[in-house]
Amino acid sequence: MTKVAVWCRHEGDNIIGIGSEIPWHIKSDFQRFRRITTGQNIVAGQSTYESFPNRTLPNRNIYILTFEEDYKVSDDKHHFVVNDVNFFKDFSEDIYISGGASIYKLFMTGSAKLLPDIIVDCVYKGEINHNSEGIKVNITPCIEVLDKKYKQVFEFELDNITTRVMVVKGEFVEQSVLKRIILAITDV
Ligand SMILES: NC(=O)c1ccc[n+]([C@@H]2O[C@H](COP(=O)([O-])OP(=O)(O)OC[C@H]3O[C@@H](n4cnc5c(N)ncnc54)[C@H](OP(=O)(O)O)[C@@H]3O)[C@@H](O)[C@H]2O)c1
Repeated sequence: MTKVAVWCRHEGDNIIGIGSEIPWHIKSDFQRFRRITTGQNIVAGQSTYESFPNRTLPNRNIYILTFEEDYKVSDDKHHFVVNDVNFFKDFSEDIYISGGASIYKLFMTGSAKLLPDIIVDCVYKGEINHNSEGIKVNITPCIEVLDKKYKQVFEFELDNITTRVMVVKGEFVEQSVLKRIILAITDV
């Protein structure tokens, strides 16, 4: 299993959301996420899952982390409830950790020792929409781990977003997965 985390954060403050929204709307950002994750297993927190249109993303399996044992999903065939992150220790297929902040932190700073092998670190350099209602959600603790434990293997610039592909220093990374991700990023 290769564990991949994918996020887009605002440069400088590491904000990934305000309330339940991503406070920027850049088409190529959504398209990149779709290309990277199509056909794959996504892991998302309950709040992020609820923010997907109709609580779904086509052509992907979604593993929803929630403490609620009888949480109802919108698609019984492709969506699965997970109550304990340790479930992924015995998982054999690749996973794409897709937020939100509590889930990135769970994998990157939690005691379960499930550090992602690869991180697609998209950094948005434009203005954020401060009209969005709610609390600003940031992933600064994850960026501290990223800066310390990862090295950059690829960089790509598009629409004011720098996409950096990062891998854990000194660890083997499945090259076919890395290649697929880089192709998905550059296939614009
Ligand atoms: N920019 C990006 O790339 C990006 C990507 C994704 C999301 N976002 C943004 O991130 C924000 C949402 O992040 P968030 O941190 O508030 O919410 P979240 O991580 O999406 O979901 C939080 C929920 O996950 C469940 N959870 C958390 N830890 C768990 C654990 N250890 N075991 C089982 N379940 C657990 C809990 O669900 P229950 O309450 O049901 O128990 C918790 O309320 C939004 O603003 C969204 O737009 C941004």
